[in-house]
Amino acid sequence: MIEALNLKKSFKVGQKQVDALCSVTQQVDEGEFFVLLGPSGSGKTTLLRCVAGLETPDEGEIIISGRTVFSRKKGIFVSPEDRQIGMVFQSYAIWPHMSVFQNVALPLTYGRQKIARSLVRDRVLEALRLVQLGEMADRPSPLLSGGQQQRVALARALAVNPRLVLMDEPLSNLDARLREEMRGQIRDLAKRLSMTVLYVTHDQVEAMVLADRIGVMSKGSIVSIGSPEELYEGPASKGVAEFFGSINWLEAEAAEGGVIKTSLGNLYVKQVIHPGQSGMIGTRPEDLEVAASSSNRDNEFEGKLVSRTFLGDQIVYAIKVSGVTLQCKTMNKERLEGHVTIRIPKDRIKFFPS
Ligand SMILES: Nc1ncnc2c1ncn2[C@@H]1O[C@H](COP(=O)(O)OP(=O)(O)OP(=O)(O)O)[C@@H](O)[C@H]1O
Ligand SMILES: [Mg+2]
Repeated sequence: MIEALNLKKSFKVGQKQVDALCSVTQQVDEGEFFVLLGPSGSGKTTLLRCVAGLETPDEGEIIISGRTVFSRKKGIFVSPEDRQIGMVFQSYAIWPHMSVFQNVALPLTYGRQKIARSLVRDRVLEALRLVQLGEMADRPSPLLSGGQQQRVALARALAVNPRLVLMDEPLSNLDARLREEMRGQIRDLAKRLSMTVLYVTHDQVEAMVLADRIGVMSKGSIVSIGSPEELYEGPASKGVAEFFGSINWLEAEAAEGGVIKTSLGNLYVKQVIHPGQSGMIGTRPEDLEVAASSSNRDNEFEGKLVSRTFLGDQIVYAIKVSGVTLQCKTMNKERLEGHVTIRIPKDRIKFFPS
């Protein structure tokens, strides 16, 4: 659906050159929900704007549905209106002096994606129905809640019947509860209409909920790609592991016999390691097992409870072991106090050589 090949884009800021995209090559499949995730300034918006045609790359090629819409070499640049893309941005760009209907009708009555006047009404009402605002067509736009305005922006993007929708942090202006509700609706709608979506966020949870695949961006490159499960369970680097949820880190050195030396003591690991390598090991808080007493198995350590936080569906413990404080998450409601045993299952340890 989308193929980006060797995209490069730099900006001149005063005397300095900022490399916003450093040779990005990425494919998004038909019907896929692809999320670009990365910290501020990593190039997410720039990549999205290049696909939209709002930014001209310095080098590379962009192909949408088999049609080259940009090629530096071949001198091709298809304008944004002719790329048949729906777009939703962080600022919804809802016109306050227009009704809900007029806002959604805008791309159908002006510009290149204009359709016959007689068809506009049906198309707008259909788009509003999709986002459950069918009843609000005649309402003045300022009289809408944040979530409703967001849905108007979504309806406007859908009204042109796009095969591809680009979204840049569309939920970041909403409060937490509405954000959760809307992300579910966006995902449902995308799947129901078999849309291809390229979605930008810096929120890790949002990315995991929405994505079929996530591309993690850092400093103008896509550094890791995978399904939410793949990136969470088997991160390719320490940086990616850290980006996806909390993790306990320990300095580590590989020894003989599948053992890693850490400040806790010796740990058996499943991963293939090379004696002498040093680095860090990471374990997720939910992978640590905590119990009142020892069960005499590998990778068990004595510790002392430092704190207990009740979160309703789970409990988070801070446990001090040999001077190191580890976070441990459990659904076991058994009341633990004082001295406890923690166990780190060997297949849940990830070693990152430095
Ligand atoms: N028009 C511009 N002029 C100069 N520099 C720019 C311009 N647009 C982006 N940049 C720079 O390019 C880099 C990438 O910016 P971009 O907006 O793509 O990041 P982002 O990942 O979307 O960040 P955020 O999460 O903060 O929105 C940044 O260093 C930014 O300052
Ligand atoms: Mg951005």
